[in-house]
Amino acid sequence: MNLLLLLVTTCSAAVFQVPTTTSGSFRAKLIREGKYSSFLASRLQQLNTGSQPLLGFSDDPCIGNITIGSPPQSAFVFMDTTSANLWVMGSACTSVNCNDPLLGIIKHKFNTTKSTSFVKSNRKFNIQYGSGECSGYLGTDTVEIGGLKIQKQEFGVANIVDYDFGTRPIDGIFGLAWPALSVDQVTPPMQNLVSQNQLDAPIFTIFFDKRDPDYYYPSNGLITYGGLDTKNCNANISYVPVSSKTYWQFKVDGFQVGTYNRTVNRDQAIMDTGSSWFGLPYSVIAGIATQTNATWDLYASVYTVPCSTMNSLPDLVFTIGAEKFPISAPEYVEDVGLDDGTCALAMYGIDASGFGPSVTLGNIFIRRYCSVFDVGNARIGFADAIHPNSVI
Ligand SMILES: *[C@@H]1O[C@H](CO)[C@@H](O)[C@H](O)[C@H]1NC(C)=O
Ligand SMILES: *[C@@H]1O[C@H](CO)[C@@H](O)[C@H](O)[C@H]1NC(C)=O
Ligand SMILES: *[C@@H]1O[C@H](CO)[C@@H](O)[C@H](O)[C@H]1NC(C)=O
Ligand SMILES: *[C@@H]1O[C@H](CO)[C@@H](O)[C@H](O)[C@H]1NC(C)=O
Ligand SMILES: *[C@@H]1O[C@H](CO)[C@@H](O)[C@H](O)[C@H]1NC(C)=O
Repeated sequence: MNLLLLLVTTCSAAVFQVPTTTSGSFRAKLIREGKYSSFLASRLQQLNTGSQPLLGFSDDPCIGNITIGSPPQSAFVFMDTTSANLWVMGSACTSVNCNDPLLGIIKHKFNTTKSTSFVKSNRKFNIQYGSGECSGYLGTDTVEIGGLKIQKQEFGVANIVDYDFGTRPIDGIFGLAWPALSVDQVTPPMQNLVSQNQLDAPIFTIFFDKRDPDYYYPSNGLITYGGLDTKNCNANISYVPVSSKTYWQFKVDGFQVGTYNRTVNRDQAIMDTGSSWFGLPYSVIAGIATQTNATWDLYASVYTVPCSTMNSLPDLVFTIGAEKFPISAPEYVEDVGLDDGTCALAMYGIDASGFGPSVTLGNIFIRRYCSVFDVGNARIGFADAIHPNSVI
């Protein structure tokens, strides 16, 4: 969006925000007092970017709070960069998975009759995820996220959900991927935020705080809609184009660890907030295992190294675009409680022989590199995340 358009949008929004003052005199007063530019800046802050603190559960750091309806009803949704639909559990979902009594997880189920702005559609929905499926019907309502309002967002109200959704403290899923992945051609919320002129820039930025040993922890990240996260992320961002507007998919040019070096022209990566470990081609994992002297733990089905050697192992370096992105061993090695003094290489193998993505960069990568999802320019950018102490 160009600057002129931005200012015009901002001014008119400000006029509507100040109903008891006429636009002319209010603006003139600010200009007279030399406060107009800071006023605009504050309006930008309030109206055109939104920040959504994230909650974490186990090794899943990407749970966000949204509200739906009038008056607003809260829902905690998994912010997912690999799907493109929004759905929440409806109050008619009475099965055990919407009411997990075993884990004591409280579900916030959306009661459509309590919202005066809810409009039910006659379309049904059903979405299959890797971890299970959910189904119900579609409707539209106002959705609020990070202080930004999306009008007439179409979303799923689920009556039936699979077990996996019951065992996590989430009430639904908020898809942040491209419209091509949207089931039933529903416009994803991010696209509505952009087309409804809610954002300064058609981007969102994800920051994850350091790994937290607690199972269930209050705040470990932030999503910024419409802007960069200048507090938590370095301003030096390197971008690569999105190679397929489905997932947030892009090309990885190489991997290097110790003397192992694989330069490729074919590996496609996706950025996945639902993946706590790296997904890598088997050959790359074999290279990393050799370079770290890791051994295969048959029982745990992971490569392990003595935890005590963690600090002396070489970096794992991704080449993306022209840049190198090192991940240190304490970041890619994780103590998973094996009780024999060994720690796991936090990675799993992906068959790289097909045409699909062979690399999944998830939470370990984002924790080290804030990720800027640029919808307008179809590119993804990485910047050093600022962690006051260490990243781990
Ligand atoms: C979730 O959002 C609602 C509405 O903004 C707010 O009232 C509530 O306190 C939030 N909950 C948490 C845990 O942040
Ligand atoms: C939904 O809200 C309506 C209206 O307040 C109420 O009568 C109904 O009991 C609620 N349904 C559930 C399942 O809580
Ligand atoms: C930005 O980051 C790149 C890659 O790390 C580096 O080559 C470049 O010097 C940095 N620029 C500034 C201004 O720090
Ligand atoms: C890896 O191999 C490529 C191509 O042969 C080379 O350009 C690059 O310098 C190598 N990197 C390292 C760290 O050995
Ligand atoms: C792996 O083991 C070899 C042989 O014992 C040793 O020379 C090398 O330093 C070890 N590498 C690492 C990263 O510990």
